[in-house]
Amino acid sequence: MREKGIFISFEGPDGAGKTSVLRVILDRLKPILKDRLLITREPGGVNNRVAENIRNIVLSSDYDEIDSRTEVLLFAAARRQHLVQTIIPALKEGKVVISDRYVDSSIAYQGGGRQIGVQKVSDINFFATEGILPDKTIYFKVRSEVGIERINSTRTNEINRLDNAAIEFHKRVNETYLSLVEAGNQRFEIVNAEESIEKVVEETWQIIKKIIGS
Ligand code: TMP
Repeated sequence: MREKGIFISFEGPDGAGKTSVLRVILDRLKPILKDRLLITREPGGVNNRVAENIRNIVLSSDYDEIDSRTEVLLFAAARRQHLVQTIIPALKEGKVVISDRYVDSSIAYQGGGRQIGVQKVSDINFFATEGILPDKTIYFKVRSEVGIERINSTRTNEINRLDNAAIEFHKRVNETYLSLVEAGNQRFEIVNAEESIEKVVEETWQIIKKIIGS
């Protein structure tokens, strides 16, 4: 289905700082790649009103009645629309696509965190994505306690529905992520996100440069 382009995802638990890192990386990549760069995010996505509307529902603290399986399906539905309408067309145009979260988030948060099960969530997402995975996934590794502490002390934007979940939830998310990331799959590059933002940016930048070959 894909002809060219490079698909990279950023993953990690809440408070890993990946979104802040991505902002700096964007400033460095823009002059190099110009219109060959697309930075997007999940749930939701650039120029994707369906996925962004699903985001508004699935992350809103107004909807605390959302059932766990409904949550899996909403994330998967948003992902499907993001993939076909935003990611694949950009890859076909030869762009470097960086998505802040993709399928591993569902496996960790819904599969592990919500205890739906890794296999069930993987199966639903296989349907949604037809098995399309990023070429590389940069994982921002941080202990749950550190991540939660960062959310509580530094976040200025609104705390979302999942940020409010119990510490046990976040620990399960972290453990599930680590079981994916540390299983030896070549897709994953691990960054120590407990370092200073400058060091995390630098480590991430070296990885990105290698991936895009510049
Ligand atoms: P973020 O914009 O801070 O990354 O917030 C997105 C939240 O949604 C974060 O708590 C992780 C969660 N999430 C899932 O639970 N499953 C998913 O598939 C995705 C993409 C995100």
